[in-house]
Amino acid sequence: MKKFTLDSCCVIELPKVTDIRGNLTFVEGGRHIPFDIKRTYYLYDVPGGAERGGHAHKELHQLIIAISGAFDIVLDDGRAKKRFHLNKSYFGLYVCPMIWREMDNFSSGAVCLVLASNYYDESDYYRKYDDFIAAATT
Ligand code: TYD
Repeated sequence: MKKFTLDSCCVIELPKVTDIRGNLTFVEGGRHIPFDIKRTYYLYDVPGGAERGGHAHKELHQLIIAISGAFDIVLDDGRAKKRFHLNKSYFGLYVCPMIWREMDNFSSGAVCLVLASNYYDESDYYRKYDDFIAAATT
């Protein structure tokens, strides 16, 4: 199986159709991002100071976009960590499988859109950091 690390994660610039009536951005699975999209979900009404995430996925690929406002994401592959600041609706952070993520510093009114490669499946989660580290570092 392919070994996923922090180096596989990156910020992807999405197409932007600039228009004086308002800009438009689109995402095509398998073209702009390295997976087909099976699910989308979004986080909103996040209270000041709240933290989200705190888990890793075994097989899920995701693209995380600050559709509105801004927030930070810390990615961790068990060996290294990197903090990303997302604040543009035409940039998405690609997160590959086997990456622990924490999200914080949500601005007021921030909306986080997530495109995901599969349906919701609780058995795909590592919810305990120790379990993730044991799996990621062997
Ligand atoms: P979780 O993925 O832990 O959210 P976050 O990482 O943003 O903190 O999900 C929170 C809850 O929502 C959890 O009980 C599972 C549920 N959930 C679904 O039912 N379907 C979904 O697609 C997602 C992402 C979460």
